[in-house]
Amino acid sequence: KNIAIVMGGYSSEYDISIQSGNMVYESLDREKYTPYRILIQKEKWVLLDDQDAEFPVNRDNFSAEIQGTQVLFDCVFNAIHGTPGEDGLLQAYLDLLEIPYTSCGFYQAALTFNKRDLLSVLKPRGIHCAQSYLLDRGQEVRPDEIFARVGLPCFVKANRAGSSFGVTLVKEPGELRGALDAAFREDDEILIESALRGTEVSVGVIRYKGEVRVLPMTEIIPDGDFFDYKAKYEGQSREITPARIDDTTRDRVADTARFIYETLKMKGFSRSEFILVDGIPHFLEMNTTPGLTGASLLPQQAKAAGISVSDLFESSIQQALE
Ligand code: DAL
Ligand code: MG
Repeated sequence: KNIAIVMGGYSSEYDISIQSGNMVYESLDREKYTPYRILIQKEKWVLLDDQDAEFPVNRDNFSAEIQGTQVLFDCVFNAIHGTPGEDGLLQAYLDLLEIPYTSCGFYQAALTFNKRDLLSVLKPRGIHCAQSYLLDRGQEVRPDEIFARVGLPCFVKANRAGSSFGVTLVKEPGELRGALDAAFREDDEILIESALRGTEVSVGVIRYKGEVRVLPMTEIIPDGDFFDYKAKYEGQSREITPARIDDTTRDRVADTARFIYETLKMKGFSRSEFILVDGIPHFLEMNTTPGLTGASLLPQQAKAAGISVSDLFESSIQQALE
């Protein structure tokens, strides 16, 4: 089977996606699959060979031509973080072309990539979340109103972004303006949330061999203020899998994570972040194309469950092809 591993994308998470895509490329069993790396950039979509030579991708049918031979793909492995791989654009395009792909459907991707819309769907279903305040570009900024709602410290987040791009912890009122500027560099919409105090856990939920599985969770202990880009990828945090929480709390988090996955009719990979406040999981966000790099959490969680990365990737391809 020809597998197109799509990587790159149009967002700040480009470099992380390249690492994720290369990890998948190196891990797939060549006896079963013929993987190709497809680099997706604003300017060009190209197939990369092992020497990084580029061959153009025909977007009419998502095929590539290598030295006069057309290559068609049986399945797309989606390793793009951010737009257009995590927000539903690519999924909708592939649906129209009837090419199977590994990640969730276009609607689930679009909904979950929009942090504030996802909260508005989950809150009425009983999921606990932080107090939040929404702000659009051009809207008047009213600091008193913001702080009255969310308090201090609070997180200012770009609504549609990942890997902590555009996220700042605001501890004093004077830091708000700079934080808003940083978030507006990533998106036109901003979510401001009260900073919850408690243990942060990251929970992978996947469909594995036909079943929804909640993977062993990771406890995150950042060295700095929060689990930011450096903490995620430059080792400046402690990540403990499985998390050191009691069985009752663990089961409560696992049930919540599974409920969210099933309620949203997810497929493929997902990794959600929660803060445990007095043992009650508070939902922060969900990633539907979670990082698959050497430093990323989902592969570590799979390993802790006895699932190798190649099994993890193969299972998602099998599921896409079913
Ligand atoms: N957005 C990054 C890639 C993650 O969730 O792992
Ligand atoms: Mg994220």
